[in-house]
Amino acid sequence: MIPLKIVKAERPEEGLTTIYLLENKEGIATLGLKPGERSFAESQLSGEKRIAVLNRLDYRLYLVLPDDKGNDVHKKEKLREAAYKLVKLLREYHETDLQVADRLKDSNFVLSFLEGLALSVYRFDKYLTGKNGKKDAVDPENILLISEHISEEDLSELAGVIRAVRYARDLVNEPVSWLNAVRLSEAFQKMGKKAGFRVEVFHKQKIESLRMGGLLAVNRGSIDPPTFTVMEWNPENAVNKKPVVLVGKGVVFDTGGLSLKPTKDSMDTMKSDMAGAAAVSAAIYALARNKIPCHVVGLVPATDNRPDGNAYAPGDVITMYDGTTVEVLNTDAEGRMILADALAYATQYAPELVIELSTLTGAAAIAIGKYGIVGMGTAPEEEFSVLGKSGEDVYERVVRFPFWDEYKELLKSDIADLKNIGGREAGAITAGKFLEHFTDYPYIHLDIAGPAFVQGENSWQGKGATGIGVRLLYDFLKKRCRV
Ligand code: BES
Ligand code: ZN
Ligand code: ZN
Repeated sequence: MIPLKIVKAERPEEGLTTIYLLENKEGIATLGLKPGERSFAESQLSGEKRIAVLNRLDYRLYLVLPDDKGNDVHKKEKLREAAYKLVKLLREYHETDLQVADRLKDSNFVLSFLEGLALSVYRFDKYLTGKNGKKDAVDPENILLISEHISEEDLSELAGVIRAVRYARDLVNEPVSWLNAVRLSEAFQKMGKKAGFRVEVFHKQKIESLRMGGLLAVNRGSIDPPTFTVMEWNPENAVNKKPVVLVGKGVVFDTGGLSLKPTKDSMDTMKSDMAGAAAVSAAIYALARNKIPCHVVGLVPATDNRPDGNAYAPGDVITMYDGTTVEVLNTDAEGRMILADALAYATQYAPELVIELSTLTGAAAIAIGKYGIVGMGTAPEEEFSVLGKSGEDVYERVVRFPFWDEYKELLKSDIADLKNIGGREAGAITAGKFLEHFTDYPYIHLDIAGPAFVQGENSWQGKGATGIGVRLLYDFLKKRCRV
């Protein structure tokens, strides 16, 4: 797949397929259409319809009339949605080269539209051979943008973020037959080289010498070694003195281990169990690529989780990196085992904030589905409200769950400091409370189990991996580190 390229142009080109972004219906009159075309466009854009297509001899005009109801968040999302619908049409008409004429009032809006276009064009076609014809699908490739609102810098920043989301989606879509823990850490190293951030990978021996008991326990059923990756973007002009640490769950495949995933279909999408890790690395990529003055550290513990002769077993007591003992009562609650070590490792940075992203619980997905991220933690109200605002802006919405200490009761073990599962109730929250035990700093836990990987395509988030979390973290940290 060829990524979409967007460049600025001074004036529209004659005879090229054009997308007009219109502020309102009156805008149709300003396009210099022939009378027949004009009335045809007006009739197409009646009622709820937001896109009109006009056929010229060997090119087309697409008129897009965004929904003008609601607030800015709503309008931006409507523009991304319109872009998604448009991409379907553009593919039908085999449009590869086109121009976008921005006739909107506000600069933010055209960026949302372009973002929607670029995110909708993504496909994971690495394994298509062409034999079933799917590989030949035609995507939009080159866009000329005619807009008073947008600078070259805006476009370059957008390109950096889109590239990051594509990295995240590619990693999540990649099956474990290729992407084991070592290859995941190699992918981070490549991203680090490209964008200029530091990447250090701890291999098994180092992980053993650090005594990361949680990560090593989960890895015991695997024939592939674990990795622990430390990423760092610390530009000279960084605004924050203490870093923000991002932690991502890097389970490259989750079978459940000896507590093997039981129900039909429950394992099919578990290559996506490293979506938190993908989001963390890609967000740091975008921050570095766009030179955002923010000191961030990324930590990714990675392994697969499988049953085997030596696999960790229910009943085992594991001594974690920080010395806490954990009674394992379900080996499918492996995410918290490896994340606990990473969260304890983060204490050495004395971070001003730690945000951890993970496809942690089915319970989070059951609670709110693919439409949002489940958030909770110990960070001050203000942090949650700023993160919530970013979530609305980029439409990766965070819904906050309670984090009351009563939930800790459910994690008490008779023979160890903690057990690794609560009861049937409040599964997403007890997972978060388990992780809290390993933190001593302001902490936000984001459970992305619902939106990380989606089955049917119905939006710019795509089919399969969505790359959720990348734009959220980027937007949040960019605003935090504004000079
Ligand atoms: N990776 C899963 C969570 C998951 C489920 C992510 C569905 C995406 C979609 C996680 O490791 C897991 O298996 N969690 C268990 C925890 C339970 C054993 C306490 C779960 O949610 O069932
Ligand atoms: Zn699991
Ligand atoms: Zn898992």
